[in-house]
Amino acid sequence: MKHQIKIPVKAFAVVSVLLMTVGIMAFALHSDDKKSKVHASMLPVVKKDSIASVKAFKQVYTVLTSARCMNCHPSGNIPLQGDDSHLHTMSPQRGIDGKGVYAMKCSNCHQPTNTPGLHTPPGNPNWHLPPANMKMVFQGRTPRQLAEQLIDPKQNGHKDLKKLIEHADDGLVLSGWNPGEGRKLPPMSHAAFKKAWITWLTTGAYAPKGK
Ligand code: HEC
Ligand code: HEC
Repeated sequence: MKHQIKIPVKAFAVVSVLLMTVGIMAFALHSDDKKSKVHASMLPVVKKDSIASVKAFKQVYTVLTSARCMNCHPSGNIPLQGDDSHLHTMSPQRGIDGKGVYAMKCSNCHQPTNTPGLHTPPGNPNWHLPPANMKMVFQGRTPRQLAEQLIDPKQNGHKDLKKLIEHADDGLVLSGWNPGEGRKLPPMSHAAFKKAWITWLTTGAYAPKGK
């Protein structure tokens, strides 16, 4: 009888060791797989928390309505200039694609990089306003209005959660932190903005109460 029991125990031990080895290998392979495509395929996880969300949006709002961002997100069809967000001199128009009209194209004056010196045009290869059919206005929006607008695909350029998160590293967004000589930076670092932006979105993208 003793002998009969021993065999299954031994077999069990062997099988366990085998399973463990396979498990470790599978885990190693899996984590390697994850490492290689962590950015491309990771879907954002939403964990709703209205208090954390609204708190984060209040920070986001101070950046969006700062001159560096709002000057390209005006309520009219003429961009704004300067730390006081006055109307752009010579009144270049938005145009259908946001890139200006006829002879007044943004890229005539705005080069791919900042032009050195004070009161010279900031540069970016993609410098333009949002298009006429999707103006993405930040100027004059209350926190509640702006929060609702930002996550509405019909108003945000058809962006889903993933695209919205990625937009934190968009070239024009980054240009706000490289504004050219004599211009104030947004009220917090890009890293702090990105953190608040992602926190707002992944805690449910709640809009602050009020109008
Ligand atoms: C005729 C030249 C010219 C054209 C065309 C032009 N700009 Fe400008 N832009 C400038 C200059 C010069 C400045 C800097 C003014 C200053 O700092 O006093 C400027 C500044 C700006 C600013 C302010 C940047 C900031 O951070 O405050 C924005 C926004 C802007 N332009 C957007 C546009 C857009 C969008 C277009 C096209 C629809 C455009 N501009 C067309 C010359 C031009
Ligand atoms: C040179 C003009 C320009 C500047 C400066 C600029 N933007 Fe934009 N922004 C655009 C354009 C054009 C679009 C539309 C392109 C798109 O949706 O991909 C856009 C789209 C956006 C969107 C997506 C709209 C939505 O409703 O979700 C966000 C968010 C945004 N910008 C934030 C910012 C922030 C933050 C800053 C400042 C740090 C900034 N922008 C500075 C031109 C600008």
